[in-house]
Amino acid sequence: MDWDESQYGLGLEEMDGTHREFVALVCALQTADADNFALLFQQLLEHTKLHFVEEGRLMRLYKFPALGEHEGEHHRVYGDLLQFNRNVKNGRLALARAYVKDGLSEWFKLHLGSMDAALAAHILRCQQSEFEIEGLIQIGGT
Ligand SMILES: [Fe+2]
Ligand SMILES: [Fe+2]
Repeated sequence: MDWDESQYGLGLEEMDGTHREFVALVCALQTADADNFALLFQQLLEHTKLHFVEEGRLMRLYKFPALGEHEGEHHRVYGDLLQFNRNVKNGRLALARAYVKDGLSEWFKLHLGSMDAALAAHILRCQQSEFEIEGLIQIGGT
């Protein structure tokens, strides 16, 4: 799995930066040896927590209508990652390796193309109308 700006970029640096890091971590995990795998999986868990908390903050800030659905999906995936991390810590890597290779990258592409894309579009629309309102206020004030 490699980062492809034209495919994965949402035009909002706050989200794209996090997604680039996520893809880099998944990519490193896909080729990691046993020692590094456990370390990187822990990093992925922590990174994903921040990733989801930050999107939650943006959803609240911009009053995103599908907040419940989007956060429900985050909670489900974070729960899976927690479970896999427990296995990894106990030296059982096979399931987590399979998940990183197939399940997680597929999930990311789907989630990015649907819920994250909808969130980014919503934020960009809000920022655009704030910008227009500011412009009107400035015109009105002169
Ligand atoms: Fe995301
Ligand atoms: Fe998301």
